[in-house]
Amino acid sequence: METLEAIRKRRSVRNFTGEKVPREDLLKIIAAGHMAASGHNKQPWDFVVVTEREMLDEIAARCSAWVAKAAAVIVIVVDPASRWWMEDGSAVAENILLAATDLGYGSVWLEGRMLPHEEYFKQRLGIPADRRILTFVPIGVPEAWPAAPAKKALDEVLHWERW
Ligand SMILES: Cc1cc2nc3c(=O)[nH]c(=O)nc-3n(C[C@H](O)[C@H](O)[C@H](O)COP(=O)(O)O)c2cc1C
Repeated sequence: METLEAIRKRRSVRNFTGEKVPREDLLKIIAAGHMAASGHNKQPWDFVVVTEREMLDEIAARCSAWVAKAAAVIVIVVDPASRWWMEDGSAVAENILLAATDLGYGSVWLEGRMLPHEEYFKQRLGIPADRRILTFVPIGVPEAWPAAPAKKALDEVLHWERW
C-alpha cells in the first residue's frame, strides 16, 4: 500500500473479530513505530506488547469493552525526563496506526480511557515508576472497516502564506 493510501484509509477501529495477529506482523508494526522521528534523536520510548488473554480482559474491563476482541495491545511507554516525550511518543503512535493499516489490521489510539488507569497498568505491566504510558494501541483483525468519520473541510483550517 502506498503511504498516502494508508493515511487516507486509516480509521479508529474498535470492532475486532478476535482472530490472532502473527507475531511477525506485530513486530513489523512496532518496528515502524520505532522508526519515528524524535527530538535530538533521543528515542525516549519502550514498547510493551500485551497478547495474553487475562491482561487483554483487564484492559477491556477498565478502559473499553471492545478491547477484549483485539489480538494485542501495544503499550507505548515514554520517558517524561526527555524534553519532547509527548511529541516523540505521538510520532511513534501515528507510525504504528499507519503500519497496522498498511498490513490490513485495525488499530486505535486509546489514551483518554487509559489515562485514569495509568498507574494501575504501570504496576501490572512492571513499567518503571519514572516512565509514562503515552497510550495503548489495540490491534486486531477488523470485523468491518469503519466509515470515514466527519473531518473538518481542509479549507476551514488551511491558510496559504498568512492566517
Ligand atoms: C490523544 C488521543 C486520545 C484518544 N483516546 C481515545 C480513547 O480513549 N478511546 C477511543 O476509543 N478513541 C480514542 N482516540 C481516537 C479518536 O477518538 C479518533 O482518532 C477520532 O475520533 C477520529 O477518528 P479517526 O481516528 O477514525 O480519524 C484518541 C485519539 C487521540 C489522538
